[in-house]
Amino acid sequence: MSKPLEAKPARIRTLEEYHAAYRQATEDPDAYWGAAAEAFTWRKKWDTVRGGEFSPAGTSTWYAGGLLNITENCLDRHLAQRGNKLALIYEPNDPHTRHLRLTYRELYQQVCQFANVLKNNGVQKGDRVLLYLPMMPQLAVAMLACARIGAIHSVVFAGFSATAIADRVQDAGATVVITADGLNRGPKQIPVKSVVDEALLSCPDVRRVIVLNHLDWPTHMREGRDVWYHEEVEGVEKTCPAEALAAEDPLFILYTSGSTGKPKGVVHTQAGYMVWADYTFRNVFQIEENDVHWCTADLGWVTGHTYCLYGPLLAGATSLLFEGVPTYPDAGRFWEVIDKHQVTTFYTAPTAIRSLMAAPLDHVLSYSLSSLRVLGSVGEPINEEAWHWYDLHIGKGRCPIVDTWWQTETGGIMISALADVTPSVPARAGLPLPGVLPVLLAQDGTEIEGNDQEGYLAIKASWPGVIRTTWGDHERARQTYFAPYPGYYFTGDGARRDENGLFRIIGRVDDVINVSGHRFGTAEIENALNQNEHVVESAVVGYPHDVKGQGIYAYIICQHGVPATEAERKMFEASIIETVVAEIGKIAKPDKIQLVSGLPKTRSGKIMRRILRKVAEGETTNLGDVTTLLDPAVVDEILAGKK
Ligand code: WT7
Repeated sequence: MSKPLEAKPARIRTLEEYHAAYRQATEDPDAYWGAAAEAFTWRKKWDTVRGGEFSPAGTSTWYAGGLLNITENCLDRHLAQRGNKLALIYEPNDPHTRHLRLTYRELYQQVCQFANVLKNNGVQKGDRVLLYLPMMPQLAVAMLACARIGAIHSVVFAGFSATAIADRVQDAGATVVITADGLNRGPKQIPVKSVVDEALLSCPDVRRVIVLNHLDWPTHMREGRDVWYHEEVEGVEKTCPAEALAAEDPLFILYTSGSTGKPKGVVHTQAGYMVWADYTFRNVFQIEENDVHWCTADLGWVTGHTYCLYGPLLAGATSLLFEGVPTYPDAGRFWEVIDKHQVTTFYTAPTAIRSLMAAPLDHVLSYSLSSLRVLGSVGEPINEEAWHWYDLHIGKGRCPIVDTWWQTETGGIMISALADVTPSVPARAGLPLPGVLPVLLAQDGTEIEGNDQEGYLAIKASWPGVIRTTWGDHERARQTYFAPYPGYYFTGDGARRDENGLFRIIGRVDDVINVSGHRFGTAEIENALNQNEHVVESAVVGYPHDVKGQGIYAYIICQHGVPATEAERKMFEASIIETVVAEIGKIAKPDKIQLVSGLPKTRSGKIMRRILRKVAEGETTNLGDVTTLLDPAVVDEILAGKK
């Protein structure tokens, strides 16, 4: 059943090959992506490579008619040749705790065993399983175990609040939750199970909670609902036949914020996502057999899904999972881990680079970093200063940097250099991958031709990793991504095509802010703020932040007006922050709160965010047209009270 990896379409190794591949994928996508899928294990080959309608319906299909299981391609396929090769290396939060290594065979056995545990607990194909776990191998195992039996995993980053978990459990209709007693984050130990317990008070449909004992914490187990992970796996079979799934059966749901309403469940399916994860991983990082790949993202985000787990395993590579944070026990931790495990391809976020740049350089200089071959960046635009620091001090000027632009909705990397193959220029994501047809649109939807131009970034044709739907509400996906500009997928980003045709991503053009590479809708944070009993109205905007990229600036009208005393102000602010932490999680805490008596509104009652954004950015003189304001005095008050 297993095929040698060499049978895969050759990796793109030169600029000429890139151009040829790009041309072929554009002119004959069926042939190109058909060939790319040949090397995988299929139970039944597909009938059509591409199908459905890309836009405005947003009903793309890939490899329809095919039957497969992604875990057979991540695991079984490698056993003959790579059974004893390391699949996962786990580096714990505390450097003095022993790390763990899992070969492909061991991972295969653990996945099969846990798949049997899921079955024993009544989980069936199509069921939704919510995972709220620390960044550990057991999370990877649980994801793959779901995939093995055709259950749909929805991982929620273990920093979200009980309310956020409950929203996601309910939206996904999850009936089983997998979690842990607690987790380590740097010097802190954080309860996890008690957060889940609180969430599940409003989720009566969850009938089973499987709890991993990670910290040996006293944990309340609810009779009849909660069971221990280690007890469940005891004596269970380590083989489990993989369910033959349809190419378009859902693989996972991952919640992400948009400009309106609650986070939506982005759905990716079996076959297209598999081909895209594998293809982009191997080509962007130019993966070789002996690479040790480290993507520092948590598995709770799409970057973790595609480049900690699925991409590396599909390619038969070794992937490092890190439980900790970049600054614990000190700002040298990343560099220590790179030396310790001889990491070759390193993939992190600009916010991490900027925070480590601020620490004394000694933290870097104590390590050799000589194993590194390729450096990657993801999540937000990387500023030139951070790019050069990364290049000089981490890559020692000899590692190509791939600045990878993509989104939860795109499944994998879309615009990026291929390491040492296509151009890597500071502050440019670069050229699109084969199969990706990016265009710049003017406000009226017309394509902007030529170089040295700026516009809304949109994608003109379907690619295998495209979002298939938003869970339970296809209309929302259609409206958000495919209807705004019929014929295109709308990214929500603004971009510039430079004089050489390389793309530079400017940032979001919608009401989404990107805080340390995490996406939040301004409306989502406002909804959370408005839950506070003292808050009458709020408006949230992003502003430039040295480390986080963007910070959260909240303008708030309090019930009793602007507080008269400093003590009162502090009390309000603390209470407001507490509300956001409870509604969303610590990651959405406003960086600045300004209590105001009014918000700048037009006569029709619309908040003029443009003005609020300018003030938050520190612009005080050039506020643009304010003549349509209902009450211009509000602006003077806001300017006077600016944080
Ligand atoms: C948004 C997607 C999947 C990547 C992790 C975040 C921004 C992402 C870059 C980059 C400039 C970037 C965009 C995008 N973004 N990568 N290399 N350069 N901006 O995934 O949470 O779905 O956010 O992140 O604004 O729309 P996400």
